[in-house]
Amino acid sequence: MEDVTVTLGEIQGVPLPAETCEIWDQIYNFQAREDDIMIATFPKAGTSWLREIVDLIMLNGDVERSMRAPAFVKVPFIDIHLKHMKSGLEVANSMESPRIIKTHLPIQLLPPSFWEKNVKVIYFARNAKDCMASFFHFQRMTKTLPDPGTWNEYFSTFLSGNVAWGSWFDHVIGWWKAKDKYQILYVFYEDMKEDPKREIRKISEFLAKNLTEDILDTICHHTSFSAMKENPMTNYSAMPSFLMDQSISPFLRKGKVGDWKNHFLVAQNIIFDEVYKKKMEGSGLHFRTEL
Ligand code: A3P
Repeated sequence: MEDVTVTLGEIQGVPLPAETCEIWDQIYNFQAREDDIMIATFPKAGTSWLREIVDLIMLNGDVERSMRAPAFVKVPFIDIHLKHMKSGLEVANSMESPRIIKTHLPIQLLPPSFWEKNVKVIYFARNAKDCMASFFHFQRMTKTLPDPGTWNEYFSTFLSGNVAWGSWFDHVIGWWKAKDKYQILYVFYEDMKEDPKREIRKISEFLAKNLTEDILDTICHHTSFSAMKENPMTNYSAMPSFLMDQSISPFLRKGKVGDWKNHFLVAQNIIFDEVYKKKMEGSGLHFRTEL
C-alpha cells in the first residue's frame, strides 16, 4: 500500500488534510469566475449526488455528455490535493466556463473571490448522525484521511469537531447564516431523498434553467442511488484503490436517511442529542434524522 496523506493540519483552527494546508495560499487566492457554480458541503452530505444533479441540469439532462468523465474530474474539488493526481485547483484553472466547483470549506475559509464575483452556491446539508456514520465508513476505506479507530472512538472525535473540515455544527450553521446575504440555495439531503424531482426543480430554477418535466424525470432517474452505483463515472471505480479501497466499504454505501440507527448506542444517542440541542439552539436550522 502506498503512503498517502493520513494526517490533518489546521487553518484558522479548522482541521484540514495536511496537503490542503500545504497549498493553502493557492486555495485561498483561487480566482472564481462570475458564471461559476459552487457546490458546498460538509463531507458525506451527498456531494457526489449533487455534483451529478447540477452537471445534468447544466447539460439540460444530456446523459451521454454527463458520462464524459468521472464526477471528481468534471467537478473539481478545489480544497484537496491528492498525491499522484492533478490538484482540484489545476483542473479548475484549466476548465472552460461555466464551471461547477466543489468545496468542503466552512464559510469563513471560502476564497474571497467567490463573494467578489457573487457566485451562485448550492449548499447541500445532511443530518449530523447520518453524516457521522457515513464519514466513519469513508475514513475506514480512504487512504487520504486518518484511520477513524473504532466507532466508539470516532463518535467522540466527530462530536468534538476533530475531523477533516472541522465541526459539523459550525459548518451547517455558518452557511445557513450567510444564505440570505449571498446567492446561496440551501438544500437538505433528506428533502432530496423524499422528493428528488421537487428539489431538482428548485435547484434548476435557482440556476435559471427552465427544464421540462421529461428532463427532470431523466435527471431523477440517472441520479438515483441505484443508477449512480452502477455507473462507472459516478461510483468512484475510476479512483485508484490506493486512495479509496472500496472492498472495505463502497463509496456509494447505503444512501439512506436513518442508517445512523445501525451505529448509535442508546447512550451515545442521549449524549449526542444533548450536545446537539446546545449547539443548534437559536440557529433556526432544523434537520430530519428519519423520513
Ligand atoms: P452513505 O455512506 O450514508 O451511503 P459525499 O458524496 O458527500 O461523500 O457523500 C457520500 C454519501 O452520499 C454516501 O452516504 C453515499 O451513499 C450518498 N449518496 C451518493 N449518491 C447518492 C444518491 N444518488 N442517492 C442517495 N445517496 C447518495
